[in-house]
Amino acid sequence: MRPVITVKDLTKKYGSLRAVDGVSFAVYENEIFGIVGPNGAGKTTTVECLEGLRVPSSGSIRVLGLEPKADGYKLRQLIGIQLQEGKFPDRIKVKEALELFASFYSRSVPAGHLLEKVGLLDKADDYFDNLSGGQKQRLSIALALVNDPQVVFFDELTTGLDPQARRAMWGMVRSTREAGKTVILVTHFMEEAERLCDRVAIVDQGKIVALDTPANLIRSIDGGLRINFSVNDSGIAAQLESIEGCRLTASNRDITIQCADYRVVGEVIRILGENDCDFHDFTVSKPALEDVFLSITGKEIRE
Ligand SMILES: Nc1ncnc2c1ncn2[C@@H]1O[C@H](COP(=O)(O)OP(=O)(O)OP(=O)(O)O)[C@@H](O)[C@H]1O
Ligand SMILES: [Mg+2]
Repeated sequence: MRPVITVKDLTKKYGSLRAVDGVSFAVYENEIFGIVGPNGAGKTTTVECLEGLRVPSSGSIRVLGLEPKADGYKLRQLIGIQLQEGKFPDRIKVKEALELFASFYSRSVPAGHLLEKVGLLDKADDYFDNLSGGQKQRLSIALALVNDPQVVFFDELTTGLDPQARRAMWGMVRSTREAGKTVILVTHFMEEAERLCDRVAIVDQGKIVALDTPANLIRSIDGGLRINFSVNDSGIAAQLESIEGCRLTASNRDITIQCADYRVVGEVIRILGENDCDFHDFTVSKPALEDVFLSITGKEIRE
């Protein structure tokens, strides 16, 4: 696998704040690489250093063999950028925005083709101001692809969108990868990263605290499966605790069992049945990327 991005010991300070604090990673050709973490973790700062839009305090970066600070102009011909805080004049039309962006590059994809791809063909003559939130984000994808880039950066593409619009964006991120491009996806939605990304760097307070495939990250946390239910008589907990490979925590009548094996689920139900124990709200779930963040940092990702 060929790295298209390599980052070594990247640090970015704002005054005394180390917003990015010694970060190293590589992104390989044609993967969707996620950078996830809570607000203020340093995600945007990191990617904007890769895009040549912010100047690192120290460390080295190569994107497509170029050094973003020194080769910024050349690099921006080859990459696509969707900014977290992208803004346009209200009275610019969709088609005009694409034409404007196309004029920045030595080569560009025809506007009609891009609008069709993001489902905005019928909005070509509409003003930016009149687009819905989801449509504005679709346009921002089209603009990021206008120069047919090899590497595309999406920063909080789906923030503020409803679930349906979010799913539409996910489809577009996947088709960007299918078109042969490498995608860097910045998000604070763990579920989004879990579903879309081949590998994920979890960032907290300027540092990468974990980096792997979502499946490996999830496997890395204890307990595998989680069984939750409520009982009327919490006396049953002592018997359940004796099941091999079961870690039980009880809070009043709510019982949580962590285990690595579905056999424990069968055992739990057997014991509940044998003891005529009334139980309700019985669920079995697998941990998600969200739980990985909690397990590593001890914090919930959402404030
Ligand atoms: N231009 C700047 N000047 C000073 N401090 C900054 C600047 N940009 C970012 N910061 C600070 O650096 C830290 C990281 O910010 P950054 O925008 O990279 O975080 P983020 O992970 O993208 O957060 P979010 O999820 O809210 O977008 C924050 O504490 C932020 O306040
Ligand atoms: Mg950000």
